[in-house]
Amino acid sequence: MEANISLTDVIRRLAPQINFGVATASYQIEGSSFGGCGRSHWDDFADEPGRVFEGHNGSIACEHYHHYETDLNLISEAGFDAYRFSFSWPRLLPETSSTLNPDGVDFYDRLIDAMLERDIKPFATLYHWDLPQRHAQKGGWQNRDTAKYFADYTDIIMRHFGDRLVSIAPVNEPWCVSFLSHYWGHHAPGLMDLSATAKSMHYIQLAHGLSINVMREHGHSNLGCVLNKEYFTPIDDSEVAQEKAHLFDGIYNRWFEDSLFKGQYPEEVLSVFGNEMPENYQDDMSVISSPLDWAGVNYYTRSVIAPDDKEPHFGFKCLRGDLPKTDMDWEIIPEGLSFFLRRLAKDYCPDLPIYITENGMANADYLVGEAIADTSRLSYFESHLRAVEEVIEDGVPVKGYFAWSLLDNYEWAFGYDKRFGIVHVDFDTQKRTPKQSYYAWQDGLRGR
Ligand code: FCB
Repeated sequence: MEANISLTDVIRRLAPQINFGVATASYQIEGSSFGGCGRSHWDDFADEPGRVFEGHNGSIACEHYHHYETDLNLISEAGFDAYRFSFSWPRLLPETSSTLNPDGVDFYDRLIDAMLERDIKPFATLYHWDLPQRHAQKGGWQNRDTAKYFADYTDIIMRHFGDRLVSIAPVNEPWCVSFLSHYWGHHAPGLMDLSATAKSMHYIQLAHGLSINVMREHGHSNLGCVLNKEYFTPIDDSEVAQEKAHLFDGIYNRWFEDSLFKGQYPEEVLSVFGNEMPENYQDDMSVISSPLDWAGVNYYTRSVIAPDDKEPHFGFKCLRGDLPKTDMDWEIIPEGLSFFLRRLAKDYCPDLPIYITENGMANADYLVGEAIADTSRLSYFESHLRAVEEVIEDGVPVKGYFAWSLLDNYEWAFGYDKRFGIVHVDFDTQKRTPKQSYYAWQDGLRGR
């Protein structure tokens, strides 16, 4: 099949300078009903009527638990250097915080060894949202103890797999874990509560810091963070719209990089949380800002921020503008990616390598015969890779880019309705069919 020349070209130009990979997450692909995996709060959330599109859950997903070799072959045949995957906490520790599931350990042993055999670098994430149900029932991320349990789980991972992992980040997208799930209620546990939000926003950062310290004690030296960034545009040039856009940036973006790299939280957000913040949270800031080896950015879109008197705490609402949109209704704006890459390098971590740990788009892909012409995805990758190229030329130390995602998979509250893969999955037969974007990557990476 003919691939898109300009995407292929930009991949070719960047390939000598950076690592290219694909990213996935355990709950979205593995199948939580296989291999003695325990229940996570996503299994419970999906069971609640109205939470997830048509009540879909991750019990089967892409059945990667059984098809992982096929999937790794797809990665290596495309020529990617690296694979960003996540460990499932409830798969490894289904019943208690200390009793390991031997099948879970065996699965990750085989998975990691199969990556190494294929010369694929394992980039691991320890938590991509599948919180064991037993921790969720005790308050989940609103409970300080969960951060402590996460540190213990980190220790277990390091003992079993640490020396085979090239790179590790504790938490995927702390904003989604906290604000999206405890204030907007879109993800498990589906709360809409300011106090729960303030607590989870702090404890997820604490969990990150404790986990980093455990991994340092094990001597690992390639540890980072994976932060999702959303660009923001005030709806007009009124002072109030500017101020609300600044608050949005504070809660969505700066909360995380300010705490990780400066050991503080943005004042304007703290003033909304008031005394909902955990007592003596300041004492944790030095752990939270433990030194890192790299910084990761997941980037997809922007919000247009409008003042909203009816919003009781933050006083803004997020709207869509009139840019072209993906199947998620997310606006396409690669300038946002450049903005965050430049800001990280300038204001937060000038000496650290930066990775784009996720970037990609959902598209309403369909098979015509055996082919899938996902041309919008080709343009999406191309425009964002051009943004990467431009900031590298200006000296921003970008060292890697991971496409989200290898496979169509369980897109959280959207179930299997949204397709982000460069490989199509038929969820009835588990047949994988590479899309045109896959072939463009393969062309760009050929001969590396
Ligand atoms: C990110 C998540 C990932 C996937 C993409 C589309 O926020 O990390 O699991 O859902 O969005």
